[in-house]
Amino acid sequence: MKFFIDTANLDQIKEAQDLGILDGVTTNPSLMAKEGITGKQNILDHYKKICNIVDGDVSAEVIATDYKGMVNEGKELSSLHKQIVVKVPMIKEGIKATRYFSNNGIRTNVTLVFSAGQALLAAKAGANYVSPFIGRLDDISTDGLGLISEIRLIYDNYGFTTEILAASIRHTMHIIDCSKIGADVITAPLKSILGLLKHPLTDIGLENFLKDYKKGN
Ligand code: G3P
Repeated sequence: MKFFIDTANLDQIKEAQDLGILDGVTTNPSLMAKEGITGKQNILDHYKKICNIVDGDVSAEVIATDYKGMVNEGKELSSLHKQIVVKVPMIKEGIKATRYFSNNGIRTNVTLVFSAGQALLAAKAGANYVSPFIGRLDDISTDGLGLISEIRLIYDNYGFTTEILAASIRHTMHIIDCSKIGADVITAPLKSILGLLKHPLTDIGLENFLKDYKKGN
């Protein structure tokens, strides 16, 4: 299972990288704006900075919504760095662009996926990753994790190699549940990843070990 961090914050990316468990980064225009990164050149420079921190894949999202615009933007993004994966929205033009990228050796992550049918189309178009947004489904009283299970079943039925990248992760239990279902990748905020570390018995146990060590020294 791959761990991606879902942020454009360089300090958090470095912290996750230093932990030694990071396989990649996902960003989106909202996450860039949150860090105050605006304007095309600043955004492109920021992608390069992220690629220089991590070893794995870095998703960079196209802004165009027409086929030609997406293809041009995707080519520009992928030429920035070999780690860049072009993030394409799950719309009709996006599927056409995904097929173009797949035929031309440019890796893709189809984003804003909210149904099994959309995930099936993304795989058919040759996407490398598909990003179902589980938290946003939970927000509207729909079963986000159930969608991951459906996509897993469909992809396994036909041997699709598109990796299921569970996105819009809101808490640590989402990560654990996705690992049980068999998501290939999770992308989560640093806080949710660090939540996996925590158990009160670990803290109490360590405190006692250190106390007992001091008794004899
Ligand atoms: O990167 C896409 C996705 O993870 C966004 O999450 O929390 O805005 O629904 P969220």
